[in-house]
Amino acid sequence: MAAAAPDDTMTALRGRVLLIVGGGIAAYKILELVRLLTAAHVDVRCVLTKAGTEFVTPFSLQALSGHPVHQELFSLTDEQEMGHIALSRSADLLVVAPATADLLAKMTVGLANDLASTLLLATDTPVLAAPAMNVRMWEHPATRANVATLKARGIEFIGPDEGVMACGEYGFGRLAEPPVLRDAILARLNIASPTSGSARPHTSSTMTCTRTETGSSCDIVPGGTVVRSSVETTVDGTTLWKPLLGRHALVTAGPTHEPIDPVRYLGNRSSGLQGYAIAEALAALGARVTLVSGPTNLLAPAGVTLRRVETALEMEQAVRDALPADIAVCAAAVADWRVTNAVTSKIKKSADTTPPSLHLVPNPDILAALSAPGPHRPSLVVGFAAETDDVEANAIAKRKRKGCDWIVANDVSVGTNVMGGTENTVLLITSDGVEHWPRMTKTDLALRLARRIARRFGAPALSADGDMN
Ligand SMILES: Cc1cc2nc3c(=O)[nH]c(=O)nc-3n(C[C@H](O)[C@H](O)[C@H](O)COP(=O)(O)O)c2cc1C
Repeated sequence: MAAAAPDDTMTALRGRVLLIVGGGIAAYKILELVRLLTAAHVDVRCVLTKAGTEFVTPFSLQALSGHPVHQELFSLTDEQEMGHIALSRSADLLVVAPATADLLAKMTVGLANDLASTLLLATDTPVLAAPAMNVRMWEHPATRANVATLKARGIEFIGPDEGVMACGEYGFGRLAEPPVLRDAILARLNIASPTSGSARPHTSSTMTCTRTETGSSCDIVPGGTVVRSSVETTVDGTTLWKPLLGRHALVTAGPTHEPIDPVRYLGNRSSGLQGYAIAEALAALGARVTLVSGPTNLLAPAGVTLRRVETALEMEQAVRDALPADIAVCAAAVADWRVTNAVTSKIKKSADTTPPSLHLVPNPDILAALSAPGPHRPSLVVGFAAETDDVEANAIAKRKRKGCDWIVANDVSVGTNVMGGTENTVLLITSDGVEHWPRMTKTDLALRLARRIARRFGAPALSADGDMN
C-alpha cells in the first residue's frame, strides 16, 4: 500500500485506486466519491461494468477522474496500453462500489467473464467492497454466504447502511455515503482524511496486517505516527474505533478430529464460521488476535494469526502457547473424548470379524482450564455452549461449572441449521443475567459480541450497540 511520505505536498498523488463500478442504482453516488478522492489527491482509474453504464456514463467518470474509463475485456487499445493483468496490479487498492449482488456472486465463485470480474480474479491487491442492493437481496442466504466467504478470504467490506432504499423498502442495503467511503479508502492507503484535522492526536501504534500462506498476522508497531483514519473511521456520524488496541485475544474455533486410525476419526459438524467471524471482529476492533483452529475449510481472517491444529490435545497445547491473553473466546467444538486405542495402520474390514471397539477417555477441558484462577487467566473468558435441550438452564449451569465469565449458548438441534449454517440465535449469559439475542448472521453476531467485549474493557457504548448492525 502506498503510504504518504512525510514531505508529501498537498498536490502530490498519494495513492492509486482502481474503482470498479457495478450496475446498481447507487452508482450515481460514485461520481461524488470520485470527486472526493481526486480532491484528496488519489489517482482514480474507473472500470465500469456493462450494467453500470445503465446508471452512470463513462463520460462522467472520465471527466471526474481525469482518465479514460475501462469497460471492455477485449479492448485492443487497452490491451496495448495496459492489459487487464497490468491494470489489476497497477493500483494500491481495488474498490468495488457499488458491489452488486451479482458482482459479489461472481467474486465468490471466481467467474472471469467480463473486465471487472477478470480484474478481481487476476489481482492480489487488497479489495474493499461497498455493497448496495435491495434489503432482500442483501439478506438472501446466497448473498450472506457469498459475503461470509469473501470476508474469510480477506475482502474488506464497508456498509451497507440501514435506511430507505430507492425501491421504497427499508433495511440494510444502502451504499455507504461517499465521504464515509472516501475516509475508508484513505485509511487503507494510510492517508489522513481531510476531515481528520480536528482529531485528537494519537501517539499509540500503527497496525500492519500481512497475509501469509499459513494465515495473516497483525503487527502492532508502537510509537508509530498514526493517522487518525488508521485507528478510527466514521460511519454516518458514528465513530468506529479500535478500543481493543494493545489487547491480545485468543479465539478457538472449529471441531477437533480424534484419530481412530490413519483414515478415520471422531469429529463433529462445526464449520468454524462463528469462531473465525469473532476473531475477525476482534481484530477489526484493534485486538491482536490468535486464532487456534481445528480442521476447517476456511482461510485465515484478515489481521489474525492462525494456528491450525487437529486434535483436542494439540488445541490445548496451542492455547497454552498463546497465553497470556486478555480475552479468550472458546468457540471451538472440542471433542469430548479421544480414542485411546487408536492405531497407526488402517483397520481392515472383513466379513468374519466383529467391528472394533473404541476405548474413549475424556479430552482436557480447555475452557475450564482457561477459566481457573491463576496468573495467566485472561481477564475475560467467554465459552460457547451448543445445546439441544433446555438451552438456557444447561448454559447457566455450564457457566458455573466451567468458571468462565460469559457463555454464548446456541440451540444446535436438528432444523436450526446452526452447525455449518451462516446464521445463529444465541443467549448471552453473564453474571448479570440472560440476554436473548435475535437471530442474525454469524458475522453480525461476531461484531455484536466483539463490541460487547470492548465495552467490558472500558470502551463507551456505540449507538449501534445492541443492534444487529
Ligand atoms: C433499476 C435497477 C436497479 C438495480 N439496482 C441494483 C442494486 O442496487 N444492487 C444490485 O445488486 N443489483 C441491482 N440491480 C440488478 C443489477 O443491475 C443486475 O444484477 C446486474 O446484472 C448487475 O451487474 P454487475 O455485475 O455489472 O454489477 C438493479 C437493476 C435494475 C433494473
